[in-house]
Amino acid sequence: MSRIAIMAAMPEELQALLDCMPDEHRVRHAGREFWLGHLVGQDVVVVLSRIGKVAAATTAALLVERFAAREIVFTGVAGGLAEGVAVGDVVVGRQFLQHDFDASPIFPRHEIPYYGRSTFDADDRVASRLARAAHEVLQAAAEHLGAPAVQAYRLAGRRCHEGLIVSGDRFVSTTAESAALRAELPQALAVEMEGAAVAQVCHDLGVPFGVIRTISDRADDAAHVDFPAFLRDVASRFSAAVVSRYLSA
Ligand code: ADE
Repeated sequence: MSRIAIMAAMPEELQALLDCMPDEHRVRHAGREFWLGHLVGQDVVVVLSRIGKVAAATTAALLVERFAAREIVFTGVAGGLAEGVAVGDVVVGRQFLQHDFDASPIFPRHEIPYYGRSTFDADDRVASRLARAAHEVLQAAAEHLGAPAVQAYRLAGRRCHEGLIVSGDRFVSTTAESAALRAELPQALAVEMEGAAVAQVCHDLGVPFGVIRTISDRADDAAHVDFPAFLRDVASRFSAAVVSRYLSA
């Protein structure tokens, strides 16, 4: 029996998803906990991706090979890079690139050797449905996140962006580094630590893939401030609401 896999980046997000599952049971494998059950009536497997490209790639490969995932959706937080991508906005990935990949001068910077490409795509249908779900949740933010959170984090009027997400094994937390990334990759909307790795695995295995990220910081000198509070009050609730809406569409 095949299932839809949901990868969550942080324990708080995993818990918010598990709270929506009436019948989950845990299967331990490869040092990870895979949760099988139902979410809004759909067969799912939910798992913590762990942080970074290798951990996420391993988890994605296991989801497909061992847990019969026929589709993977990744939900988490990201740092905003492009101008106009603000804290509380949402980014749905359409393309993914590893910003720290560099096999030059043998291959062009960012190109993944023997693939002849530097970006991998989200599945069009998955990304479009995720964007629709995100728009709907943003429009009813107070209902999903609670009025106090909407006020405290100034979430009214937040937007959903679609485009390039870049991933690397670094939490980007200086203004200098985010400026360098913006200069090198002007199309990049947001930076995180897993998406492009999972995109490559899904490309290899022929599995549709999509990413939805809530912007938690601007990847600058203030990037670490209030991260746990934002994760608890906004990102985890938002992830659970968007994934539920996505699955019920
Ligand atoms: N995830 C959330 N914010 C991030 C940042 N600034 N850099 C990398 N990954 C992130």
